[in-house]
Amino acid sequence: MFQIKTYNAIAKAGLKKFNEEHYQLNQSETPDALLIRSHKITEEELPNSVLAIGRAGAGVNNVPVEACTEKGIVVFNTPGANANAVKELVLANLLLAARPILEGANWVKTVTGSNIEEIVEGEKKRFAGTELQDKKLGVIGLGAIGAMVANDAYRIGMNVVGYDPYVSVDTAWTISSRVKRALTIEEVLRTCDYITIHVPLLPQTKQLINHEKLALMKKEAVLLNFSRGELVDNKAVATALVDGHLKQYITDFADEQFIGNEKVLVLPHLGASTIEAEVNCAKMAARTLKYFLETGNIKRS
Ligand code: MLT
Repeated sequence: MFQIKTYNAIAKAGLKKFNEEHYQLNQSETPDALLIRSHKITEEELPNSVLAIGRAGAGVNNVPVEACTEKGIVVFNTPGANANAVKELVLANLLLAARPILEGANWVKTVTGSNIEEIVEGEKKRFAGTELQDKKLGVIGLGAIGAMVANDAYRIGMNVVGYDPYVSVDTAWTISSRVKRALTIEEVLRTCDYITIHVPLLPQTKQLINHEKLALMKKEAVLLNFSRGELVDNKAVATALVDGHLKQYITDFADEQFIGNEKVLVLPHLGASTIEAEVNCAKMAARTLKYFLETGNIKRS
């Protein structure tokens, strides 16, 4: 019987659901493995008994990966398990960027009087939008999520260009041949109307979008970030929005820089927050962990 320490309800739920006989969920100080979701594991917190840490999610930036590697602890994630949820939210936000849906809906509730319909008809031109069809979308990072966003954006009529110097063979097969590939990130930034970031947070990607990169973007461009807040220099974004170098920033990551800024739409890290994605991640993490503890290998299913 393996001892598994879990930190979040979702990870716990996945383990329970998958296979109660092989695991004992407890808060043992000598667990064989840790299963986590949002909990940030510190180096000091790593028990010597641990052989693996599974993250029920895509990013592993809440795990001290280097320290784990030094100690021989295997760290794994659940790639693709929540990709559909993130993709759907990105597509929804592309539509929100093109059409003032929220602004129109909020305004219409404030209209009063006996002739509401007439007032609304008379003023609705204030809320005219644009279409996504034929607009150019740049997808930076073509992993599981980026590939799905690129394919579906193409299906709704956008011209899609992707950039990723390290795309895996598995993901490469899933990317539609209609998605053009850019050789440099600068090419994407210079030419696209909408740019969405789908890269992991690593030392090399921290503040990937900085002042210099923002300066390359079209003045009317919209930037979307549903990956990690630290990929973008928020101060530089706030300045670019004031200087008119960027039309809108849509992000899943709060920052005090954005308080009261009407050109920024901030969500409370909802990308993977669907019931389906949470179950998928928890199940994949549990299966992967079971296989690892039994065989010493990582194989996702
Ligand atoms: C992920 O890394 O999979 C997502 O950001 C999910 C999350 O942490 O809520």
